[in-house]
Parts: sequence; C-alpha cells; structure tokens
Amino acid sequence: MGQLNDRVAIVTGGARGIGRHYALGLAAEGAGVAVGDTADSTATVDEIVKQHGPKSCIGIELDVSEEASVQAFVARVIKAFGRIDILVNNAALCAVLHPIPTMDLEVDVWDRVMAVNARGPFLMTKHVVPHMKERGYGKIINISTGMTQRGVPGMLHYVASKGAVLSMTRCLSREMGQYGIRVNTLAPGLTLSDTVLAMQPEFVETVRIPNRKARAIQRDELPEDLVGTLIFLASAASDFITGQTIFVDGGSV
Ligand SMILES: NC(=O)c1ccc[n+]([C@@H]2O[C@H](COP(=O)([O-])OP(=O)(O)OC[C@H]3O[C@@H](n4cnc5c(N)ncnc54)[C@H](O)[C@@H]3O)[C@@H](O)[C@H]2O)c1
Repeated sequence: MGQLNDRVAIVTGGARGIGRHYALGLAAEGAGVAVGDTADSTATVDEIVKQHGPKSCIGIELDVSEEASVQAFVARVIKAFGRIDILVNNAALCAVLHPIPTMDLEVDVWDRVMAVNARGPFLMTKHVVPHMKERGYGKIINISTGMTQRGVPGMLHYVASKGAVLSMTRCLSREMGQYGIRVNTLAPGLTLSDTVLAMQPEFVETVRIPNRKARAIQRDELPEDLVGTLIFLASAASDFITGQTIFVDGGSV
C-alpha cells in the first residue's frame, strides 16, 4: 500500500532536476502525477509510466509565470485525473542563474526571477485551491531554499524570490486552514541536481566544500535526500502540520 494511493499530485518543474525526483517519489507512493514544465517532460513521464502504468503520469507544457498557461494546465489535470490533492511548487529559475553583483543586476532579470519564482507559486495556488477546497483537503508544498536564512552574495534576486515563497507559506496556511488545505515549505540546501551540475559547474566547485563544512552531516546533498520529507508533507502523516518550513540540508541552517 502506498502512502498516496488515490491521490493526485502536481509537480511544477518536474521534467528534470530535483522536480523529477519528487515526481518519481510521489508516483512510487501511489499518487497519479501531473508534471508541468517549460522543458520537455517526456523522459520523466515515460520513466513513471513504465514503472507504474499508463494512467500514473502525464506531462503538460506549463509556464507558471503566465496565468493563462496555469489555467489551461489545471483544466487539463482535472480532465485527466478528476481531482488535485497535492501541489508541489517546485518550478523556478535556479540552475540557470549565475551569481551577479547587485550593482549589475538588470531590472528585467530581477522581474523575470520574481515572475517565475514568486508569481508562479501564487498563480498555481490560486487556480489549484478551488479544486482542493471542493474536497475539503489539500497539501501545498512550496520549495524555498536555505539561502533565505544565510543570504548569499550575488544571488539577491533568487534569495528574495525564495524569501517570498517562505512568507507566502505562512500567509496561505492561515487563509487555507479553514478549507483543510495544509501549506508548508521544504527548503533544501545546495543540492547536486543534474541541472545544477550541468549548468553551474564552476559555481558548484566554489561552494561545494564550504557547504559541506557548514553541515552537521558533512557530505554533499543529493535530490534523493529531499524525497522522504516531500512525501511526509504530502501524506496524511503530516495532516496537523501547516505554515511550517522544514530545512532539509544536513543541519546547515
Ligand atoms: N539545486 C539546489 O541547490 C537547490 C537548493 C535549494 C532550493 N532549490 C530549489 O529546488 C527547485 C528545483 O531545483 P533544481 O536544482 O532542480 O533547479 P532547476 O533550475 O533545474 O529546476 C527548475 C525546473 O523548473 C522548470 N522551470 C523553469 N521555469 C519555469 C516556468 N516558467 N514554468 C514551469 N517550469 C519552469 C525548469 O525547466 C526546471 O525543470 C527550485 O525551486 C530551486 O529553487 C534548489
């Protein structure tokens, strides 16, 4: 028996990187999974369908920063699965971002990061909540980062956007409790996702050792380290927990 049998989960940004691991983990616990991404999600969907059957997963193109795209995505998920129980707000501009001094940070880059990383989770929540409310139950898991607690030079746009995510969790949990919707944040530390390794090799090499040393458990963090906490926050085991942030970073924060 999976912990999420008969549940339906959305994973934004689930085509690759850490999101792919969330999608695989949710499907392994029995949830039907809808992957939404600007990137092609065929490989993730095929992997899940191969393991769990043709009805276990769908992939739909999604730009979380565009309300029309979010609305169309949610409508297609409802058409395919008939319900939504779990929303993982994972899509973000993360691996593509290079550290940049604040004095050189262009307004359009700031705006784009905010549009995807902060407006995205807001829009997803706005359009998914009515379906959760209908059933009187739901789990929203917002993905932030430990960087919000420490601050990191050159990452003002990213850290500010993820601070917004953390605050949205607190605010939404107060508003959504009456509908049985739980809202929590999962905040990873530096995680060696395939995308971060491929797109930021120099950055990773610079920060990898200091990050390890800052942890109580002094090793690299991998996407697999995050899946157990995600499943916990998605499952009935955490039904009396809302408005919280769990730092999964080997004891760094
Ligand atoms: N890797 C890390 O060190 C780390 C640490 C802390 C938090 N995080 C967070 O974890 C999540 C996943 O990180 P990752 O390492 O896999 O990074 P990533 O950049 O590879 O993943 C983001 C995913 O979102 C998708 N995406 C980007 N813009 C989108 C949009 N407008 N609409 C829909 N999808 C979009 C990307 O295509 C990608 O699949 C992000 O929210 C990130 O901020 C990552």
